[in-house]
Amino acid sequence: MPRNPVAVYAELLRQAQDVMGLDDPMSARSRLYTLLRPHHLERYPELQEVLKRLGIGAGYARNHLLSLGGWPDDVVDLVRRGLPLRVARRLAHVELSVRKEALKRAEEDRRSLDDATWGQRVERALERLAREADAPDVVPEDGWLPPAVGGDGHPPDGAPGPTGDVWRFPTLGARSRADEELHPDLARAILARYTAPGDAIVDLTAGAGTVAQVAAQRGVRSWSSDVHPRAPFVHAMDARDVQFTDGLTPGCADLVLLHPPTFAWWEKARPTGSVAGPEGYADLIADLLAGAIQVAAPHALLVLVGRPVRSEGIVRTAIGELQRELEDVGTTLIGYHVGVDARGTEDWHVLVGRRLTDT
Ligand SMILES: C[S@@+](CC[C@H](N)C(=O)[O-])C[C@H]1O[C@@H](n2cnc3c(N)ncnc32)[C@H](O)[C@@H]1O
Repeated sequence: MPRNPVAVYAELLRQAQDVMGLDDPMSARSRLYTLLRPHHLERYPELQEVLKRLGIGAGYARNHLLSLGGWPDDVVDLVRRGLPLRVARRLAHVELSVRKEALKRAEEDRRSLDDATWGQRVERALERLAREADAPDVVPEDGWLPPAVGGDGHPPDGAPGPTGDVWRFPTLGARSRADEELHPDLARAILARYTAPGDAIVDLTAGAGTVAQVAAQRGVRSWSSDVHPRAPFVHAMDARDVQFTDGLTPGCADLVLLHPPTFAWWEKARPTGSVAGPEGYADLIADLLAGAIQVAAPHALLVLVGRPVRSEGIVRTAIGELQRELEDVGTTLIGYHVGVDARGTEDWHVLVGRRLTDT
């Protein structure tokens, strides 16, 4: 049976204290930091013996187990309860309030019958909280979120992005799934492929502003809006009725992204008076695209992220419908990618249209 790291750590300190003739475990811990380095350890056969008895390597003992002694008690307790050291280390370096929130969200995810491990759920929550903390807390003065610049003057995230047309992404947490957020990996995949630093993008269904945050990291400036904004820097606007205010101007975007609600989500929250069923949903997509085309530059790309309409066991509208909608606003399809989550239960279809010009 695998032994818990907390128990192994306690045993390491006890035995090291004995062989080194020290008075207390904490002195053993600080001595071990030095003595577990290879060039010191070779002169301490007694300590080598301790490691052998415990069945652990010097690197693991020094780099992982000894850290436990510097972590808050609540984090050590989590390791005792089975949280992997790698995740516990991340928790140990954030404030207590963030730890509590991350654990709370991981628990919510567990209740949503998520099959991720506890460690994965906590890591996911920590990443999400870090994004929330990084989000600008006001709408920028000119309305646009500026690109981030790394220490070397280049965008912090210049990775080339995925190749191929099928993109796998880790399953989102329960809250993010409920809000139908785009996984940042998918946003990264789209932007890596279709934008360059210096570009301007507009996201008219930005929700929590995921795309904008990823764009900033890639050196791309962005303007975001949503009918129900979920981040402070996202403007409140109905994309079916585009208003050229707050820095948004006609033709300003090299790329316009639309990530409308899925049919299932829209049906539950369908505005009163709108046509029900797939027909009404198709109207929504058409209206959103009509809004999007107004902010697209003549050379712009329109990125439509959607899912087939599935309801009552029937696929009512497949992706061809989205292609037609894109073509109806004067674009030609130049890219089609599918993002599939690790569980295979989420499929986001990414259609990329290039605006046709008269020349
Ligand atoms: C699939 S979610 C987009 C999530 C977003 N990409 C993110 O990562 O948070 C769809 C969004 O469309 C918004 N929405 C629905 N109807 C809209 C409309 N008429 N105009 C603007 N946004 C709308 C919803 O409020 C929701 O936030």
